[in-house]
Amino acid sequence: MNFKEELKKYIDLINDELIKYVKTNECPEQVLNEAIGYSLMAGGKRLRPILILSTYSLFKDDIQKSFKFAIAMEMVHTFSLIHDDLPGIDNDDYRRGKLTNHKKYNEATAILSGDSLLNGAYKLIIEDIANSDEKEKSKKINALYELSHGIDRMIAGEYIDTEYEGKQISSEYLEYMHENKTGALIKSSVKIGAMLAEASENDIQNLSKYAEKIGLAFQIKDDILSEIGNQEELGKPVGNDRERGKCTYVTKYGLESAQKMLDNIINEAIEIIKNYTKNSEFLIELALYIKNRNK
Ligand code: IPE
Ligand code: IPE
Ligand code: MG
Ligand code: MG
Repeated sequence: MNFKEELKKYIDLINDELIKYVKTNECPEQVLNEAIGYSLMAGGKRLRPILILSTYSLFKDDIQKSFKFAIAMEMVHTFSLIHDDLPGIDNDDYRRGKLTNHKKYNEATAILSGDSLLNGAYKLIIEDIANSDEKEKSKKINALYELSHGIDRMIAGEYIDTEYEGKQISSEYLEYMHENKTGALIKSSVKIGAMLAEASENDIQNLSKYAEKIGLAFQIKDDILSEIGNQEELGKPVGNDRERGKCTYVTKYGLESAQKMLDNIINEAIEIIKNYTKNSEFLIELALYIKNRNK
């Protein structure tokens, strides 16, 4: 397996599918639709939909059956980014290498773009469920519940992030914040992929443990990149966490310790996933990619 090629294959599949959901018709709210497309198609690593598709493909080959959830998940993630960047939350000017939604358009449009993406994700899945046979329906309703749970936890984590700005945070709360604001959608993605593929309870549990590790690791790396990343490459600001007095693994433990924690958590994730034979290689490489990424 060539990891980079696999990754690109997934990204292309996702982008080809995502673009179908960007509305381009002439209508009074045309600029809102344009703003939604602006953020949705601005690039992005597509990690969460990739996790849905690649976890699904551990068990089954017909990955197109998990496309709708993959698209919905990326819509939700993009909503979370647009709102995360708003003046009332992180007040950032750049995202995915471009001006943030509220800078390019305005605050009202950015808030509504996020609302629309969140609702669009639910609408897409509910339509999909309505068009499914009875057996598929119950499986997809469980996956929809998992998606809604992930969103609920992401919002809780975002709340803690804003609430603790400029304050001291305990180790427990810092981990809780990361597990929720970033880890929750990552964990839900893995679980949804496994649930749609009818994986056993035991497999879902093991994969969830892997997902918890990479979810936490992903945010620790995000904290590190906010300190020492390259703004050009990252496509978003560097130094912004420190400027705003954000609680991160770097501000709490220092750069070196944060890096060590990241290394350990990724090793733990790899230990868990190693036991899967078919296609686990991709998820192992994905864990390493999360650790080594520069954007
Ligand atoms: C950024 O997520 C926000 C976090 C949860 C850390 P990504 O780093 O996955 O952002 P994109 O989708 O690639 O832009
Ligand atoms: C983002 O956290 C988490 C969500 C968007 C839910 P951060 O605020 O730390 O991420 P970046 O650095 O802006 O991408
Ligand atoms: Mg934030
Ligand atoms: Mg932010």
